[in-house]
Amino acid sequence: MLGRGRMERIRSLSPAVSMLRRSAPSFVLLALAAGCAAPPTIRETPAGVSVGLSQLPPDVHSYARPGEARVTHVALDLDADFGVKELAGTATLTVARVPGARQVVLDTRDLMIERVTDADGDPLVFEMGAADPILGRPLTVTLPEDGDRVVVHYRTRPTAAAVQWLTPAQTSSGKPFLFTQGQAILTRTWVPTQDSPGIRQTYEAEITVPATLTAVMSAEHLTPGGIPSDGDRTTFRFRMANPIPPYLIALAIGDLAFRPVGERAGVWAEPGVVERAAYEFADMETMIDAAERLYGPYRWGRYDVLVLPPSFPFGGMENPRLTFATPTVLAGDRSLVSLIAHELAHSWSGNLVTNATWSDFWLNEGFTTYFENRIMEEVYGAPYAQMLEHLGRQGLQEELAGLPEADQRLHIDLAGRDPDAGMTAVAYDKGATFLRVIERAVGRGRFDAFLRRYFDEHAFQPMTTEQFLAYLDRELIRGDAALRARIDPEAWAYGPGLPANAPPVHAEAFARVEAQAEAFTAGTAPAALATQGWTTHEWLHFFQSIPDTLSADQLRSLDQAFRLSQSGNSEILFAWLMKAVQNQYEPALPAVERFLTTQGRRKFVRPLYQALAATDWGRPHAQRIYRQARPTYHAVTAGSIDAILGAPGGG
Ligand code: BES
Ligand code: ZN
Repeated sequence: MLGRGRMERIRSLSPAVSMLRRSAPSFVLLALAAGCAAPPTIRETPAGVSVGLSQLPPDVHSYARPGEARVTHVALDLDADFGVKELAGTATLTVARVPGARQVVLDTRDLMIERVTDADGDPLVFEMGAADPILGRPLTVTLPEDGDRVVVHYRTRPTAAAVQWLTPAQTSSGKPFLFTQGQAILTRTWVPTQDSPGIRQTYEAEITVPATLTAVMSAEHLTPGGIPSDGDRTTFRFRMANPIPPYLIALAIGDLAFRPVGERAGVWAEPGVVERAAYEFADMETMIDAAERLYGPYRWGRYDVLVLPPSFPFGGMENPRLTFATPTVLAGDRSLVSLIAHELAHSWSGNLVTNATWSDFWLNEGFTTYFENRIMEEVYGAPYAQMLEHLGRQGLQEELAGLPEADQRLHIDLAGRDPDAGMTAVAYDKGATFLRVIERAVGRGRFDAFLRRYFDEHAFQPMTTEQFLAYLDRELIRGDAALRARIDPEAWAYGPGLPANAPPVHAEAFARVEAQAEAFTAGTAPAALATQGWTTHEWLHFFQSIPDTLSADQLRSLDQAFRLSQSGNSEILFAWLMKAVQNQYEPALPAVERFLTTQGRRKFVRPLYQALAATDWGRPHAQRIYRQARPTYHAVTAGSIDAILGAPGGG
């Protein structure tokens, strides 16, 4: 069905492949060959491939043995049943293998595997290994003698951690909704494949849904509007022709409308939200242009944003061609759009050059946080970008204070742990600060040229921390010992804390905010403070600058003067509610409860429960609110709150 499109791509890529053949290590060639061209079968496998396959760094979060056999393409044919909360159908995997390899090992978690066949429907022997609570179960399939296809017939469980099935009561349209969240290792709860970021795969999908709903994916839409199917259902077809890490396979189904905001940019959302979303994200096309000027062509075709119902557990998720975003960024004044710059930047750092393992997560998020700030500077000016950088630095310093030293390094050890443990400000803001150190040391012109080349030369490949440091030495430092000492890469990658060569942050506007914070601390009534014209970021810095401990009088006067509990800006509301909870300010509890029961973004929800759970005063409130809210949260958020308050029914 999709053969023609893929063949065209092979032709268009072949000059790049032959160019790389001269310089790239063999595993790179295999990645290209396997991802973009017809994957080699046992007979077609070129010599040297076994060496290449085993050169992928080991990934402690996957059962796959890519040195023997690896998935190069996934074709999904799934039916979404909202009645039983189940995706059911097949995943047809194309597998490249080294000569003599008999088996392919896949990752699964919580999947019901019904049978496994070859492309003709003849059964293949398969075995499910023991279940690990984090990693799930390996699915080992004996490969067909002839042919490179493995068809897994399966269904998901209603509890599949990637998938949230929303009831009509949880959406603005009053219709059911489904979305998936694959990163870091949740794709295996709805797609049986090799779920490791170093194992890139192209994909295609046929998704059948109730006729009143629309399906969208992180891929090209081949059938806009869908094709009518039996039983009042519609089938949507998709294709992602670029090889991507499996955590970027993403699906959403709902009552969805689309509004273009530019030539290649638009927003998807439920009909009641889509106009607000289009207003908020009007600058998307400008951001894409700015990003391309900085680091080269956008290689994914369209860039759309899907605004999800409020239970989406993250701010944004960089699913290719279709960023998934929380509605809590719809502030009405476009003040939280750095999130879009961030997810867009992942189209280079993360989706093009991908962390090889979750220990290298900073290569995704640190680069992206740096790139995000550069886009914001291009589009909104340096003073604006400086405020964002300043807020990031302060957040980093606060978080570093509570992290064990081993987790303060950019490259961290995640053996035996959920990769979620690495999702800290270290990866984001320490990572970005390291890049700023290099930028300062060599100058922006040289650094930008270096980064652009880095993306070009490693496009569609995994990257390890070690490889990046070697590339930095080879291409930029070039044996200049004084320059190397000025950057000190090892201190950043492998040392704790914030190295002393971190450039100081300064934001003009924040000096004025600090003066007002001091006045407030010294007793000036909030209503008398000079806050006119403050943007979201100035308010956030104000909350960072006032004391942790505040009296009930101070809190009351703040709320009265600025109507904080009523704020429609999620970031300001969150900053205020944190202060209120930390000071056991009872009158804010209704607002806390409202916030915790109307959205499920983990970044907001987790710290509030944590702060409540920290005192005898707050714990019963946390437990009461969570009992009500838990069924509305995505598994990612619920799992994190279970860890604080105990799983339901448990201690
Ligand atoms: N890729 C991340 C989200 C993520 C990371 C999901 C790790 C699962 C595991 C995304 O790009 C991100 O960083 N989102 C941030 C917002 C961003 C503006 C810092 C978030 O969701 O808070
Ligand atoms: Zn990110």
